[in-house]
Amino acid sequence: MSKKLYIETYGCQMNFSDSEIVASVMTDHQYSTTDNHKEADVIFLNTCSIRDNAEQKVLNRLKQLQPLRREKPGLIIGVLGCMAERLKDALLEENELGMRVDMVVGPDAYRDLPQLMPDAESGHKAINIILSSEETYADITPVRYASNGVTAFISIMRGCQNFCSYCVVPFTRGKERSRDPRTIVSEARQLFEAGYREISLLGQNVNSYFWEGEEMGKATGFPELLEMVAGVSPLLRIRFATSHPKDMSDALLQVISRNPNICRAIHLPMQSGSTSVLKRMNRKYTREEYMDRIEAIRQTLPGCAISTDIIAGFCGETPEEHQDTLDMMEWAGFDFAFMFKYSEREGTLAAKKYKDDIPEEEKTRRLQEIIKLQQRLSLKSNKADVGTTVEVLVEGLSKRSSAHVSGRSSHNKVVVFPDKGYKPGDYVKVRINSCTAATLLGEELEN
Ligand code: SAH
Ligand code: SF4
Ligand code: F3S
Repeated sequence: MSKKLYIETYGCQMNFSDSEIVASVMTDHQYSTTDNHKEADVIFLNTCSIRDNAEQKVLNRLKQLQPLRREKPGLIIGVLGCMAERLKDALLEENELGMRVDMVVGPDAYRDLPQLMPDAESGHKAINIILSSEETYADITPVRYASNGVTAFISIMRGCQNFCSYCVVPFTRGKERSRDPRTIVSEARQLFEAGYREISLLGQNVNSYFWEGEEMGKATGFPELLEMVAGVSPLLRIRFATSHPKDMSDALLQVISRNPNICRAIHLPMQSGSTSVLKRMNRKYTREEYMDRIEAIRQTLPGCAISTDIIAGFCGETPEEHQDTLDMMEWAGFDFAFMFKYSEREGTLAAKKYKDDIPEEEKTRRLQEIIKLQQRLSLKSNKADVGTTVEVLVEGLSKRSSAHVSGRSSHNKVVVFPDKGYKPGDYVKVRINSCTAATLLGEELEN
């Protein structure tokens, strides 16, 4: 009989994609996945280190899981992903919280999981946190164990070496490396044939994707890759994240404009609207260069949705620099944003070079100001859609009401409308009647 594996994933989309690799490796070796942690023989937490609160969440969860050991002697609890890489063997030491961790496995070592299991099962602790400069898991077919059957992720590259001064990712994920484009296109084709209708190409800096091999006649950059994937079928929607402003080329915008199935939604993290803060962040662009990219998007892709990431209260941020961020948000009119308080991460450039000197209350105040402004901008963006018709890819029943279905527009907005017996994967033309800051509400347009 197979042993049961339960995986819980924290952090970014890349981690969710990695969990599907882990599921694939493990199901090839006498394990089967379960969505109930109580019946599991092995529990993996695939973790995130991006901010302190992300790590605290995982530590609390680890503590909460410990009592399961009494009901299930031999239960294995493993920490995978970025925290495994950052905290290493410190996780294996039983600490004052009484938390026991049996396995610690970093993001480039998932192929080794089956070999590590016997050690963990025999009561020895198992660890592999070796980072690789080559691993892309290109030959592993992910097991989409928690999928809705319509949308899927494909990791096209791993690692990051931009070394933004606040960021832990280059340390937890290692060097940037791109995956063979042929394996990406064939994975997209297989997904389409299996009924999937939307694919998100993932990387920490997707638009710096670069495959040098000449097997395709020439080297492949991100615009070329995107066009190849878009060519799989006009019925397959393509998204991608995350783009770095420094690599947001005109050639990429041209590819999007030529291919209606590449979604009109670009996530372009700004982080700050102040050139001096961006310099301390080591983001490699100025306020003006960021504005230039927004203008290029508006010009080549009229109506394209633009979303962003913003950090409040970075080291030394003056009230004027904070105001620059608010002004830029207003100017850009972002449709959506992820917004965070700066959280110092040990070992990063910022931790070594700058003082984390904005008091907690002031960080909170600035973040609240940013969130409030974004809510107004998001509502404005959604209100502008009222009265228009959008094409929605149905993902499933609405969470709030089983009489409604929910899906997304090309602009990546959630649209909820009355169910008329649709199936996940159907495309429906929906007239938008009303909205909140987070959702569009409408009904099918009758011809
Ligand atoms: N590779 C992407 C995103 C990486 S992490 C990019 O370059 O944009 C996602 C977001 O978390 C970042 O865009 C940033 O806004 C935020 N973030 C990263 N490190 C952080 C830190 N130490 N404190 C607060 N927010 C952080
Ligand atoms: Fe972190 Fe910067 Fe790399 Fe994004 S680009 S993962 S923020 S170092
Ligand atoms: Fe978190 Fe690692 Fe992703 S730190 S954001 S899980 S790359």
